[in-house]
Amino acid sequence: MKILFITSELYPLIKTGGLADVAGSLPQALRDLDNDVRVLLPAYGKIKERLPDAVPVTEMHLLGQPVRVLSTTAPGSEIPLWLLDAPKWFDRPGNPYLQSDGTPWHDNDERFGALCWAGVLLARNQVGLNWQADIVHCNDWQSGLVPALLSPIDERPATVFTIHNLAYQGIFPKSSLSKLELPASLWTPEGLEFHDQLSFIKGGLAYADRINTVSPTYAQEIQTARFGCGLEGLLRHRSDRLSGILNGIDTDKWDPTNDQLIPQNYDAKSLEKKNANKKALQERFGLPAQDKQILMAFIGRLVPQKGVDLILKALPALLKHPFQMVFLGSGSSDYEHSLLYWSRRHPDQIAVHIGYDEALSHLVEAGADMFLMPSKFEPCGLNQMFSQRYGTVPIVHRTGGLADTVEDAIPSQLKAATGISFDLADPGALLEAIKRAWLLYDQPSVWRKLQRSGMAKDFSWHRSAKEYCQLYRQALSDLSPQSSR
Ligand code: ADP
Ligand code: GLC
Repeated sequence: MKILFITSELYPLIKTGGLADVAGSLPQALRDLDNDVRVLLPAYGKIKERLPDAVPVTEMHLLGQPVRVLSTTAPGSEIPLWLLDAPKWFDRPGNPYLQSDGTPWHDNDERFGALCWAGVLLARNQVGLNWQADIVHCNDWQSGLVPALLSPIDERPATVFTIHNLAYQGIFPKSSLSKLELPASLWTPEGLEFHDQLSFIKGGLAYADRINTVSPTYAQEIQTARFGCGLEGLLRHRSDRLSGILNGIDTDKWDPTNDQLIPQNYDAKSLEKKNANKKALQERFGLPAQDKQILMAFIGRLVPQKGVDLILKALPALLKHPFQMVFLGSGSSDYEHSLLYWSRRHPDQIAVHIGYDEALSHLVEAGADMFLMPSKFEPCGLNQMFSQRYGTVPIVHRTGGLADTVEDAIPSQLKAATGISFDLADPGALLEAIKRAWLLYDQPSVWRKLQRSGMAKDFSWHRSAKEYCQLYRQALSDLSPQSSR
């Protein structure tokens, strides 16, 4: 199949979260299954400097602006990469969505509206590149208008829309409709309108031939008021087109036997060597290097989704016990300040690194004994999978992808267990789960078994890519005869 994969992030070029990891791995896994995949990404900030071999292949006018498409390959892969080169919209430093003060860029509607229009033209072979997509695979709100724009066209590719996070919807004033040159016919409550505003994500949810999320449990959860962010009705209405496909992880990059970013490689048979990483991690974070002390870790965006407040609320009770904990993350300044406050009060137990540090995240995964992921909701989550691969036992709130990837160590099913999970997103439940983990840690043979079961799991992209191929085939067969390609 010919697949146009549209994304607003791509590891290692531009990343704010897991979408970049997915876009950096899934296209190659699809290509390994003999598909012809092309990726479309905005040419943000310094990307062009990092890809000096990117050459202009076509030009077009989008929303009154002349723009170019540059062609190259995605780093570390054979995947053709098309960069939407529109300096007015994308030649800016820093975060792809936010200004340095944390507020959205004022023209995000135009920026991602233009990305959507470019996707439509490229997919339909309308800009002279001699390539026509069978499938357009859109990801999150930034490419959400593509299925809506393609839907009225008779000869069109099939569309798949992946929800990586329903909480981000791309909501703009009604006036954006004409600014983005969108057909007025799309402005209906069943279409792009959302409480009298323009919703990018509804373009995907209402019009894509197939919708999926990044775990089966999240696909169910988002059909309820608690997780549906106001879109649960629409999602229930389209439930026959909605499914969940678990993300994979890059098992080459995240491989404790061969990871160049950690001081000591190890495998399931040499887990005692993991201690050298623990020591290095303690030193790096300025904690006393005690290998008997339990070392817990957290990595992630410091936003309400990730349950940082649950950890903060559990800390006073936890601190009555001996343990250490490291945090690597950045985000809300409230969370940053609270974590720094605790690290100053308990410098031998709590250490915090505020910032984004890819290399350090490998040392954290390799050096910690346990990994905390008490997310309020988690469409998939990657760190609990990295953790299992590194023999670092995850403690997770049983939601979304965390529920689907971590087997709880309840006494009756210790055999398959790979971590600890808890049901209620509250500090008491988190505390109980941590204490349960500590009890298991004190039984070395049980703990080793947990570590090894996690390390033996298959988190490769190959499995997920096969499911995406199946989804693409379903999307193609959903195209009614009058709108067939
Ligand atoms: P989300 O996409 O919601 O942020 P995921 O678990 O899917 O959550 O993906 C987060 C990705 O970002 C992972 O690869 C994780 O290791 C990485 N990450 C998040 N925060 C940091 C950080 N401060 N330093 C390094 N890597 C980070
Ligand atoms: C989102 C979700 C995360 C998921 C990632 C990649 O950012 O918050 O759970 O793993 O997308 O799909």
